[in-house]
Amino acid sequence: MKIIKMQDTYISKIKQINKNGKYAVLTMGCQLNENDSEKISGMLEESGYTKTDDLAKANVIVFNTCCVRENAEDRLFGKLGEVKKYKENNGTIIVIGGCMMQEKHIVNKLKQSYPFVDIVFGPHTMQDFPKDLYNSIVENKKIEDILDIEGNIIEGMPIVRDDSIKASVAIMNGCNNFCTYCIVPYVRGRERSRNPQDIYNEVLDLAKNGYKEITLLGQNVNSYLVSERKQNENLNLTVKKENGEEVEVNSFAKLLRLINTIDGIERIRFISPHPKDFTDDVIDSIRDCDKVCNLIHLPLQSGSTNVLKAMNRKYTKEQYLNLVEKIKAKIPNIQFSTDIIVGFPGETEEDFEDTLDVIKKVGYEQIFMFIYSRRVGTVADKMENQIDEKVKHERFNRLKSLAEKIIEEGNKKYVGTVQKVLVEGKSKTNDKIYTGRTETNKVVNFEGKDDLVGKVIPLKIASEHMWYLKGEYEN
Ligand code: SAH
Ligand code: SF4
Ligand code: F3S
Repeated sequence: MKIIKMQDTYISKIKQINKNGKYAVLTMGCQLNENDSEKISGMLEESGYTKTDDLAKANVIVFNTCCVRENAEDRLFGKLGEVKKYKENNGTIIVIGGCMMQEKHIVNKLKQSYPFVDIVFGPHTMQDFPKDLYNSIVENKKIEDILDIEGNIIEGMPIVRDDSIKASVAIMNGCNNFCTYCIVPYVRGRERSRNPQDIYNEVLDLAKNGYKEITLLGQNVNSYLVSERKQNENLNLTVKKENGEEVEVNSFAKLLRLINTIDGIERIRFISPHPKDFTDDVIDSIRDCDKVCNLIHLPLQSGSTNVLKAMNRKYTKEQYLNLVEKIKAKIPNIQFSTDIIVGFPGETEEDFEDTLDVIKKVGYEQIFMFIYSRRVGTVADKMENQIDEKVKHERFNRLKSLAEKIIEEGNKKYVGTVQKVLVEGKSKTNDKIYTGRTETNKVVNFEGKDDLVGKVIPLKIASEHMWYLKGEYEN
């Protein structure tokens, strides 16, 4: 709370000197990164800035970076080259935040090659941004505010949300898993969970403001409160609900049950769970809670037990498939989406075929595919059996063809059915067409009307296409 007090002081100081300032935030990472961007926007708007998409008009440009794969770095350095002219011509304040700023070699590169950058902060020091911004405005001082230690959970940050129907709520931060390819545990620190009362209050507030869909976010959502429980066996957290009732919440499964009772919220999603922690109580909560969507994002990464071991994923091909079967047996109509990495060090043709095999067996609704990218500081980066770029790309293309076939096949099951669709707004390309999503996150386009926006409505699916379904609305 002390930090927020300090933040408020600097926000008021900036407000006093700010003359109709404009800002732009460029989000480059995952949904947690997007959620952080909404908080960065919150701090800027509280300080009297208004948003612009035109970088040439912005007084402050913030890059919220990601470092999970190399292309994220390429994008940042490309963009920095672009904004240099705004700095030179307009004196724009250039700010870089996000996960990449926890990497020493990147911050050093910035200092050497991009000295025009004014402020740098990592995800753990985001709350200090108003102080840094104020000092940069009044003293024209270069600031690097990075904390190597584990950050605390900061409550009460201002937030300006991008959407008025769907909102994301971070429930935990950090990761303890250390998958050997992944940089996240190094830049986001150890797992720490928010107090369930704070989460409840935030979702309640969103519901009162008309939000219909909530996505609970964390690097490993099903280890919500697990570290805290390990530190304190008798962890006894209760949430006082709006109706005065008190409920105990000491796990992800119980959190889902709690959020499910909030009036006004119609859909609950969560990303990402880890297959190794997918306990029966979580499966039961998904089954019992009507608002929890029947789509589970279950990152596979690889279908080969050998590769999974080298990745430190802590499950085998069979354990993953058994988990999927168990979930399918307990929850009717449940669907899955996943993340896959191709070309992990040592991946043989046989290993790769195991991945294709799991994809065929599970039949995903959506597959996010990545080519393995070496990350400085991770265990896999030091492995000697790195895969040739040509082989990686060839496997990626084969994976992509199979994924497209599986997804198109899967889309056929919707034709002729009636789906509950949350209407999100008008199509960007056609004024008559409205767009929404099924519980399984499939885009549905249909001819509708304005007053349907923000409502969950039944739509008959008339036809399927690769990236969307066509629905029919009957009055
Ligand atoms: N915590 C989440 C997501 C982490 S990052 C989880 O465990 O599922 C999102 C995805 O990026 C990962 O699931 C993985 O598929 C991919 N990814 C992470 N590191 C990568 C790397 N070094 N190269 C390629 N893809 C990577
Ligand atoms: Fe990275 Fe693995 Fe943690 Fe996900 S679970 S953030 S892939 S280390
Ligand atoms: Fe990227 Fe950080 Fe998210 S590295 S994927 S923005 S947690």
